[in-house]
Amino acid sequence: MAFKRNRRSPLAAIIVMAAGLALTGGGYAAATSAVEAAKPVSAIATAEQVTEGKKLFAANCASCHGKKGEGSSGSNVVPSLIGVGAASVDFQVATGRMPGQASGPQLEKKKPQFTAEQISQMAAYVASLGEGPAIPTDAMVAADGDSANGNTLFRINCAMCHNAVGAGGALTHGKWAPALDGVEARHVYEAMLTGPQNMPVFNDANLSPKDKKDIITYLKYVEETPSMGGYELASLGPVVEGLFTWVFILGFIIAITIWLGAKSN
Ligand code: HEC
Ligand code: HEC
Repeated sequence: MAFKRNRRSPLAAIIVMAAGLALTGGGYAAATSAVEAAKPVSAIATAEQVTEGKKLFAANCASCHGKKGEGSSGSNVVPSLIGVGAASVDFQVATGRMPGQASGPQLEKKKPQFTAEQISQMAAYVASLGEGPAIPTDAMVAADGDSANGNTLFRINCAMCHNAVGAGGALTHGKWAPALDGVEARHVYEAMLTGPQNMPVFNDANLSPKDKKDIITYLKYVEETPSMGGYELASLGPVVEGLFTWVFILGFIIAITIWLGAKSN
């Protein structure tokens, strides 16, 4: 009898709930601080890397960006690289956007023209010109975050340009937001940190390192799950999906109303 009464005590339920909340909360805090404690790669750039990077820069980039990366404001506006950071160089060169070529409204991605080592040398050189965002570590970009939270953040911050499942979309003036499937996790992180072209910068105050990891986790989930069940509706995004839901639900409600009306007669 006593056992049975204890089991049903409301106090016991409260204690179990409090313990559960404390456990999940503690786990969450531990996981978050583990992510934020990761050390950026470029913090360990050597003087030799900077020297090599400077040579590569003079031969391949200075014609447009200036001898000291100061940029140019002449007939062809080229941005200064002082303070853009190693992350921007890694993103631009490793995705093949840089070195730039004859212009359209937006520079196309090309086959990358430098090795990983050369890219890290140029990144080290540019980082030495002025402090900027560092290249994220493997741990920071690993797709082991919270995909549901990533989905929410992606819909709020990215879907208006890149579509709800990252399928890409057209912008004004002949520009476009590219599809995101197949983009390396590191480059997704760097794109958020540096905001190429029309894309806004999402610094750590806008989206914490954990938020960025969650977004990457969501994108990798979408990549591995070709269709999230049912009809894809051409992945046209929230408007089409919303419309579909409304037509479907409204139709259902109308059908029930008619049925109820018919029954009462
Ligand atoms: C033909 C001229 C040209 C050359 C050569 C060139 N760039 Fe660029 N670069 C540009 C232009 C123009 C932009 C702006 C692109 C844009 O807004 O899409 C740019 C943008 C960048 C950015 C982004 C800056 C930012 O604000 O985040 C980086 C980083 C960069 N270049 C690095 C390099 C490196 C490294 C090289 C050499 C390997 C290089 N570029 C060679 C023209 C050039
Ligand atoms: C205002 C529109 C806009 C928003 C909002 C936006 N982006 Fe972008 N994004 C762009 C454009 C434009 C480019 C292409 C830049 C270029 O080619 O230089 C781009 C490029 C990228 C790339 C590089 C893709 C590749 O092919 O290399 C990634 C990754 C990316 N965005 C992720 C995101 C994420 C994640 C968010 C939300 C946190 C986001 N973007 C929000 C417009 C946007």
